[in-house]
Amino acid sequence: MRFLISLFLFSTLISSAVGIVCPRGFSAVNNQKCLRAFTNNLKHLEAETDCSYLGGTLVTIKNAVENRGVANLAGLAGANNVWIGMFCFATGNTTTCYHDDNSGVVAYKSFASGNPAVQGNGGCIYMSTSGKTSGQWYSAPCEVIGMPFICEVPPTVYDATCTHNYNGYCYYPSFELTSGTTSTTYQKAQAICQSMGANMVSIHSKPEVDYIRALFLNSGVTNVFLGAQAFLPDTFDWVDGSHWDFDYTNPLAYVKGSCLQMDLSNRPNNGMWSETNCQLTNSFLCKKKISGAVAASTPQPMAGTVPAVVEARVNPKFHNALPHRQELLDFSNCNTTLYMAPGLITSFGYPNTKPPATYCTWRVVSLGPYRVALYFTDFSVYNPVYIYDEFGNLITSPGYNQSPFAILGPTNIVTLKHDSSYDGAYNYHGFSATVLPY
Ligand SMILES: *[C@@H]1O[C@H](CO)[C@@H](O)[C@H](O)[C@H]1NC(C)=O
Ligand SMILES: *[C@@H]1O[C@H](CO)[C@@H](O)[C@H](O)[C@H]1NC(C)=O
Repeated sequence: MRFLISLFLFSTLISSAVGIVCPRGFSAVNNQKCLRAFTNNLKHLEAETDCSYLGGTLVTIKNAVENRGVANLAGLAGANNVWIGMFCFATGNTTTCYHDDNSGVVAYKSFASGNPAVQGNGGCIYMSTSGKTSGQWYSAPCEVIGMPFICEVPPTVYDATCTHNYNGYCYYPSFELTSGTTSTTYQKAQAICQSMGANMVSIHSKPEVDYIRALFLNSGVTNVFLGAQAFLPDTFDWVDGSHWDFDYTNPLAYVKGSCLQMDLSNRPNNGMWSETNCQLTNSFLCKKKISGAVAASTPQPMAGTVPAVVEARVNPKFHNALPHRQELLDFSNCNTTLYMAPGLITSFGYPNTKPPATYCTWRVVSLGPYRVALYFTDFSVYNPVYIYDEFGNLITSPGYNQSPFAILGPTNIVTLKHDSSYDGAYNYHGFSATVLPY
């Protein structure tokens, strides 16, 4: 018996020492990816939402070995078709197909002939996983049919004591701490985290934002302190010393302070950050890098096998401080057919006080898992700005002068149209909108 147990221990140690470690519920496929098959039939956005709450996306497939691995996993789960993490913005043109994980245009392709056949304006991609067509990809209307799906999360590091284990870190929400302090000032919160060998949380990707949203789901907490402090007005550093490589500041936030909090209210676009006073009491979240014995002996995955979850640095706060006029003539992104969030669009010639007369359209998109949110930080037009969903239905058409406001797109494609012919003549100066995925 003792022999069996030690043999068992020995073999589990070996398997984790030579392979990647996946969070509970996920299997290591090809020893490269942490995947999980879900067999309930969900529409694309519902499937993406389920994956995002696990800190992941639908599975991304970068080569033939991964493609077979996904087909096998789906087959074992009894699914004939599964959503995969890819979105195509045009028919018959794979240069407009993007991976969910922010790694860009797809290079490896396994489309069935005639695909992607995007009807209208956008297409979600699924894989057939049975019969002759197993492993082939097809496009389908995202919100019409439901089907099983495969989620992917980043590999992590084994730690038996960690309840919330994600991407090599352990997360400790304040409402679960045994110390009983669920809410306190920034300084005291950081002292509590440090007493556990952790720091207050730093955030480095949209999937991490989503993982944290899920940690606090149903907790009653509507705001948490982040582990950041301002070293200059509106300019923050993470307290754990990590790089400021991702920003999810609410472009419409106006309260100033030297600390940051994350919105966890039940708004559909929650998760965004805003400045706050460090002396206020707030819930908090500690985050600790896992570095156990197993971790030390875990081989580093080969370069390129870890999902790229680092997103481009975009700081919406600075988008209003437009560059000096002589540097460039126009930042509007007028007439773009595929403008990828995050970023900024403005009326043509903005912030010229006499805007030139022209007609512009903007087709603004985000990666498959996220919907498009438009945050108008400045708005002054004579003719309305017409805003349409991906099917050409008018969402809204604001005009004249407006206080800052947000428009949340129903899917990941939104089109805007504006005729600025009368703006200059009637003393309107145009608009500026920060575009974020939500
Ligand atoms: C595919 O789309 C790209 C980017 O929009 C474009 O440059 C290219 O000309 C298109 N190719 C075809 C065959 O339509
Ligand atoms: C944008 O496209 C429209 C329609 O093709 C055209 O009339 C307009 O001049 C373009 N605007 C700019 C600034 O290029």
